[in-house]
Amino acid sequence: MSVATACANIALVKYWGKRDAGLNTPAAGSLSLTLDSLRTFTQVELTDAEEDTLSLGGKPVTGRPVARITAFADLVRAMAGRKERVAVRSQNSFPTAAGLASSASAFAALAVATADAFGVALSPKELSILARRGSGSAARSIFGGFVLMHGGSASDGQDAFAEPLEGIPLTFSAAVAAARAEEKKIGSTDGMDLTRDTSPYYAAWIDCVNRDLGTAQAALREGDISRLAEIVEGNCLAMHANAMAARPGIIYFGPSTLWAIQEVRAMRAEGTPVFFTIDAGPHVVAFTPPEHLEQVAARLEGHPEVAEVITSPVGDGAHLVERMP
Ligand code: PMV
Repeated sequence: MSVATACANIALVKYWGKRDAGLNTPAAGSLSLTLDSLRTFTQVELTDAEEDTLSLGGKPVTGRPVARITAFADLVRAMAGRKERVAVRSQNSFPTAAGLASSASAFAALAVATADAFGVALSPKELSILARRGSGSAARSIFGGFVLMHGGSASDGQDAFAEPLEGIPLTFSAAVAAARAEEKKIGSTDGMDLTRDTSPYYAAWIDCVNRDLGTAQAALREGDISRLAEIVEGNCLAMHANAMAARPGIIYFGPSTLWAIQEVRAMRAEGTPVFFTIDAGPHVVAFTPPEHLEQVAARLEGHPEVAEVITSPVGDGAHLVERMP
């Protein structure tokens, strides 16, 4: 039996578009920060049962999530040359129903625990490639801190992996304004496919990501928070503009989203170094140096549609642990 933990990550330069659906390779690179408070623990036990099984937060799950586990475990079974089924128990330290980035931490923890359970020794790069097969953003959650995902170009997907960015002179904490919303209506894969197939802005978006990856890394290395703020917010809004321009348009924003964007910008105008980003849901993530976190978090609580503000320091990479918490 193997148990692993991994943190979610939030992209500063976003992944929104696939190159190859089968290998789940991205159409471009991305850049993220791993967050400690959004954490998954996953236990993998090998069994002689007929089927793989999954429980989430103590509740047995069936259907599509189990099919995803089976497809994923098949990759590791093939590497190991073994046939046992897996009994997977997974638990998040944050509310999954709120639609926060759970697939990244889930598949990163699953990659580490499944490889260990089947006795397959993988390097961090190989774990990142494996995690990517479960979810693109999971490739980044193998590592802590700032992480760069390479889009790659190889047809076997072996150059589409993440690696940590070392020597960045900045650190940020996050305040996540979690909206009172049900689970996200359009999943990332469906959203990405519809955007690629129907948005008139898709090609421009991919060019934008390639530019932002360069400038965001330069801003990080130079410790230039104002420049980074401009790039990160611009990249997030470009991703959403691209998705909104799909037909039918995909709108992830909810009633508190625009409010939180304006609060973050107002705080910045008042002199607080803070900037926002938004994934495929209504929640706004504000990044700020740790000394400003409390003030930023308190401010983001002030909307009736914000269920809670989750604060987080930077998280570490995925790793094995002794037991489930
Ligand atoms: O890893 P996926 O397939 O859940 O896609 C993640 C998509 C975004 O969260 C919106 C952007 C990103 O880079 O994390």
